[in-house]
Amino acid sequence: MTRTLITSAIPYINGIKHLGNLIGSQLPADAFARYKRARGGEVMFICATDEHGTPAELAAAKAGKPVAEFCAEMWEVQKRLSDGFRLSFDHFGRSSSERNRALTQHFAGQLADNDLIAEVDEKQIYSKADGRFLPDRYIEGTCPNCGYEAARGDQCENCTKQLDPTDLINPRSAVSGSTDLEVRETRHLYLRQSKMRAKLNDWIDSKKDWPILTTSIAKKWLNDGDGLRDRGITRDLDWGVPVKRGDEDWPGMEGKVFYVWFDAPIEYIAATAEWADAQGLDDSAWQRWWRTDKGADDVRYVQFMGKDNVPFHTLSFPATIMGSNEPWKLVDYIKSFNYLNYDGGQFSTSQGRGVFMDQALEILPSDYWRWWLLSHVPENSDSEFTWENFQASINKDLADVLGNFVSRVTKFCRAKFGEQVPDGGAYGDAEAAVTDEIATRLKAFEGQMEAIELRKATSELRAIWVAGNEYLQSAEPWAKFKTDPEQAAATIRFALNLIRLYAVLSGPFIPDATATILSAMGDEGAAWPNDLDAALSALAPGHGFSVPEVLFAKITDDARAQMEARFAGA
Ligand code: MF3
Ligand code: ZN
Repeated sequence: MTRTLITSAIPYINGIKHLGNLIGSQLPADAFARYKRARGGEVMFICATDEHGTPAELAAAKAGKPVAEFCAEMWEVQKRLSDGFRLSFDHFGRSSSERNRALTQHFAGQLADNDLIAEVDEKQIYSKADGRFLPDRYIEGTCPNCGYEAARGDQCENCTKQLDPTDLINPRSAVSGSTDLEVRETRHLYLRQSKMRAKLNDWIDSKKDWPILTTSIAKKWLNDGDGLRDRGITRDLDWGVPVKRGDEDWPGMEGKVFYVWFDAPIEYIAATAEWADAQGLDDSAWQRWWRTDKGADDVRYVQFMGKDNVPFHTLSFPATIMGSNEPWKLVDYIKSFNYLNYDGGQFSTSQGRGVFMDQALEILPSDYWRWWLLSHVPENSDSEFTWENFQASINKDLADVLGNFVSRVTKFCRAKFGEQVPDGGAYGDAEAAVTDEIATRLKAFEGQMEAIELRKATSELRAIWVAGNEYLQSAEPWAKFKTDPEQAAATIRFALNLIRLYAVLSGPFIPDATATILSAMGDEGAAWPNDLDAALSALAPGHGFSVPEVLFAKITDDARAQMEARFAGA
């Protein structure tokens, strides 16, 4: 069996993420990781915080804290929130780690040895008011590509184009707002990725099974020519990985750091090394995931990210990996996402518009959010969060369909047969029919999960829940109990086994409910139903269970209105 390496784009350290960020990468990656583990696969699921560069410096300045201290605190906050959302990372690292510093310097040294680095005296924007160079996000202005007025110096959020600060029209300092800017010379390292155009093009062309969203963005920037122009990978900043050539100093580069987008993806590797360190394992433990000369040949590497991250993962990071001429693992599949909008507009961190991870967990348990987000994940187009839709999904899917099934069956059994699986009667045509339907749907569901088609998978899962409800509705054990108690016992025995099955299948999406149900059913270790018939008689007569507490409470109209008002934005 192949092993699966899964990485989620690493969130910037600059603040608490909103639900649009969460569903754009980490949450779908988690559902996939949980699924692969449930199928018995060996998984390494990695994420981290992206701590360098201007986003971190600007946020720390705003918070009035030294940047290292700010990052350490925010890492704790983000870690706590990812635990709260049950994100099952094997390791949640930090791009400011010692491991990442060493690996980033190592890659730069390799690239230089392979003649892929140029030293360029370039013109950078200098702000006299701020007394410093203004790289990347320190500068804002109008996008030359699409005209968006709040484009940042590193990338236009609106059209995903990668930019240099000097590209911006009407530039201004993001620190002081000053437009008193001048162009000064400073020396930087450039990654000569244009030399790798043919290689990258062939590599992307060979990925026939990639989502169109991923390949179309990659091809757009590749063919446009602009996406692969040689880019500066160093900055005039204090905070970051100091520029070195491997272990050696780099003359002329004193006091400069690597560009955040150079070191951030290397953190995928470094975080796996951090994992090994934390486990007290040696280098071979992480290298077997990342080095094809150290056993990573049977690894399938899947990356998750929002669409704005695609150019960096299809062009720049592969250029770093390929350019090293060392046998590092390249990504096998890139799952990318469109944007989730919030109630008729965009989520906005700066305006505080939308629901943020900490707020979400204050109002409702994580399963509610996970279910809504994963069943509305913006896979094929942008999607939109509305409170009405959220309320309807939770009340219908989770409370009426799944929750109600579990509670009805377990309570009825407790009342009529006691808290153990009833004996008597036998499964007949009705059970065979619903088993058939579930078998077909389960096959489809597994195919969709393997293909990471999460919208389809959630609606298949919902249909599997519905099939049980319909079965129960027509088997009518509550009526049958009076006329044919043996038959009612068989129905309930089957339904209790359906509950166990549902819990297992739902694990990737609503893991807390899964755990609660399996514990109530007295079968915490229940495994994936590779043999469906066997799975549907796993709970034998006499097996004890208890009635779980209410799994999902309905969201009332009042509660909905209150949440809607609270999050309307400042
Ligand atoms: N921090 C970036 C963002 O939130 C993502 C970095 S992904 C990595 O858009 F590849 F650089 F790690
Ligand atoms: Zn633009």
